[in-house]
Amino acid sequence: MHQIVAKRELAPAITRFEVEAPRIARKWQAGQFVILRLSEGGERIPLTIADVDRERGLITLIVQRVGKTTTDLSNLEVGAAIRDLTGPLGTPTHIENFGTVGAIAGGVGTAVVYPIARALKEAGNRVWTILGARSRELVILAEELQVVSDELAITTEDGSLGYRGLVTDLLREWLEQGRPLDHVFAAGPVPMMQAVVEVMRPYHIPTTVSLNPIMVDGTGMCGCCRVSIHGQTKYTCVEGPEFDGFAVNFEELMARLRMYRPQERLALERCQAGKGGGRSRLK
Ligand code: FAD
Ligand code: NAD
Ligand code: FES
Repeated sequence: MHQIVAKRELAPAITRFEVEAPRIARKWQAGQFVILRLSEGGERIPLTIADVDRERGLITLIVQRVGKTTTDLSNLEVGAAIRDLTGPLGTPTHIENFGTVGAIAGGVGTAVVYPIARALKEAGNRVWTILGARSRELVILAEELQVVSDELAITTEDGSLGYRGLVTDLLREWLEQGRPLDHVFAAGPVPMMQAVVEVMRPYHIPTTVSLNPIMVDGTGMCGCCRVSIHGQTKYTCVEGPEFDGFAVNFEELMARLRMYRPQERLALERCQAGKGGGRSRLK
């Protein structure tokens, strides 16, 4: 059992939790995640470790309410406990001094980008960050990213804060202005990561993306999180979540993410009706 010691609403439907998990906090490196289960027989869902407090043995999780399990988690209060937390999982981000890096964050994917940007800054990189959200109230971790970025630009689709447009609109402008980038890291919705890759492709600047397929066991055994990289099958939970963006088959990833929509919708409806949703993907 892992007790929740702090909870804060960062934005509509986005909640930040600090959770007791001393062993995970000790071992964590940027880019890694946990798989959690709220109850016996409950669905297992992956969440990025957005930060850790090693002294207090805490990990930070930032969760967007999109379906049954994220809704159940978001409804937990301080003092409640998460039944299982497995981690840290995944291959840590490859951090080195690349020179100047672009850190591109879309929506709740900002929780993934923040620890990576911080590690890149600590390794001596110049970090230029673009943080995109649909509107001002959905921007998260801007203050934290400001601290670890040499430059932070915020984009909103409705123009309510910063540059009006998508993260890729500003990234394209930066590249057309001849800004020198040595490496780009992107995390967010899959169509966003695909769009970042297409903007970067003509420039041949290495572009790493953090993929978010559906996961179950997180150990490379079930095959649920498989993705095609350069036409070869890779298991995101152990060989990822980060891959060379130019090599990813995004269409396949999006199709696999859509596979359980009817079951996911049903589980959420049952949960909202107070009937419990069961194991949305495992039934
Ligand atoms: P479901 O009912 O299972 O799904 C609801 C909707 O979300 C559906 O439209 C479904 O297609 C979509 N969905 C389901 N699983 C995923 C997924 N893996 N990625 C994208 N969309 C999905 N979410 C966060 O809020 N914060 C994080 O830090 C975070 N980190 C992640 C790290 C990794 C390595 C991965 C693989 C995913 C991460 N996610 C994160 C996504 C999160 O795991 C899903 O949103 C969650 O599993 C949905 O569960 P649910 O039961 O609430 O919704
Ligand atoms: P969103 O749909 O509000 O998009 C956020 C921003 O991303 C937009 O404002 C825009 O700037 C950019 N963007 C989105 N679609 C784009 C496109 N087609 N082209 C160019 N730019 C685009 O984001 P949200 O509602 O916060 O959703 C976050 C998504 O990130 C969810 O699908 C979630 O599952 C996923 N996620 C990914 C990871 C990961 O590891 N990559 C981790 C957590 C969540
Ligand atoms: Fe089962 Fe990756 S989640 S193999």
